[in-house]
Amino acid sequence: MDDKKAPSQMVGLDGVIAAQTRLSLVDGKNGILVIAGFPVEDLARNATFEETVFLLWNDRLPTAVELAAFKRRLVGARALPEATATLLRKAAGQKAPVIDALRMAAATMSLPSGPSVAPDGAEEEAIALVARFPVVVAAYWRLLDGKEPIVGDPTLDHAANFLYMLTGRKPSGERTRALETYLNTVVDHGLNASTFTARVIISTQSDMVSAITGAIGALKGPLHGGAPGPALDMVFDIGDPARAESYLRAKLERGERLMGFGHRVYKVRDPRADVLAGAAKALYKGDADKRLYDLATTVEKTALRLLDEYKPGRNLKTNVEFYTALVLHGIELPVELFTPCFAIGRVGGWTAHCFEQAKLARLIRPQSQYVGPTDRRYVPLSAR
Ligand code: ACO
Repeated sequence: MDDKKAPSQMVGLDGVIAAQTRLSLVDGKNGILVIAGFPVEDLARNATFEETVFLLWNDRLPTAVELAAFKRRLVGARALPEATATLLRKAAGQKAPVIDALRMAAATMSLPSGPSVAPDGAEEEAIALVARFPVVVAAYWRLLDGKEPIVGDPTLDHAANFLYMLTGRKPSGERTRALETYLNTVVDHGLNASTFTARVIISTQSDMVSAITGAIGALKGPLHGGAPGPALDMVFDIGDPARAESYLRAKLERGERLMGFGHRVYKVRDPRADVLAGAAKALYKGDADKRLYDLATTVEKTALRLLDEYKPGRNLKTNVEFYTALVLHGIELPVELFTPCFAIGRVGGWTAHCFEQAKLARLIRPQSQYVGPTDRRYVPLSAR
């Protein structure tokens, strides 16, 4: 690391390459995202989530036979361990936020037999984590609402079963497709904070469950995965396209950030925003509220213009969270489930990075630059 770098870059590790990966290419300058060789625009719109996870774990798309077997493994792993189910009931009693319930539940997934670091054991754990994330979120959401969890439908695929477990209704093909496009879009994104967290944990030869639990902790902050809720709140707060300019201007005058805009890596439009904008357009043509879609597009245009005015040269563009909010709202997911849904997608990438990091068998251990004093001497308590 170059010591002459500005402190903000140094403390944020901007631009530092800390891993090699075959999982995703993030080209922030040109607005390109490639997932395991496929442009996100191509993969996200066409693949099922199961195909995408298989791709990340195996570096190729599955054949029909392999995909069927992979789906069977995921369906077979959906049932929650008793400890997890009990924990969710207790957490719901205390109204813990959904993402915290998911983090606590993830940590129980090594029960009853304890974590396993052997390659096979780790893959079984990864299957369980991917399979159970939507089950945990759906069950917990219902418990929070005073309802009993719904038993999943083994004939439904991963995304459709999640929507079914939330409502008890089989979702339309349109909604399922929108959710799959979303999950694929966010499945992996280079060395983002949560993925880095997972890789650091695995690099100590810790286990998959610990790595994924830590990753959820990193994801939940508003500077990472916690922004779509606030982005939608902002659109709702504005309420009318005619109010967009005065509302956003006032926010920027107060020095506040506009949620859903700006990105550490993308200095052009986030390609994921485009994929999700397409998914939102398709969804809102059907049964979702077209008025909200029109409002959001006006808010976006106005925000981009004002960000350019207030923060010239910073290249603050729409990020993935803005259209995430619109897509997830369009499939009637409540705001409280937005960040947990991000985790339902990203766990596919986290687990893949864990496999990749484990193969390297190298501890991640950067250095710090000490900037404090060195000449202090201990003073007894009585003399202070
Ligand atoms: N609204 C207003 N101003 C902004 C915004 C924003 N959304 N984002 C950055 N800026 C400003 C900063 O205030 C700063 O201004 P200054 O140079 O006058 O001090 C300048 O742009 C550069 O900002 P940084 O903080 O250096 O940018 P950084 O790369 O650290 O931040 C981040 C990236 C955290 C995503 C930021 O853009 C932000 O807070 N956005 C809003 C939250 C959000 O949408 N998060 C989701 C990100 S996407 C994801 O994680 C999947």
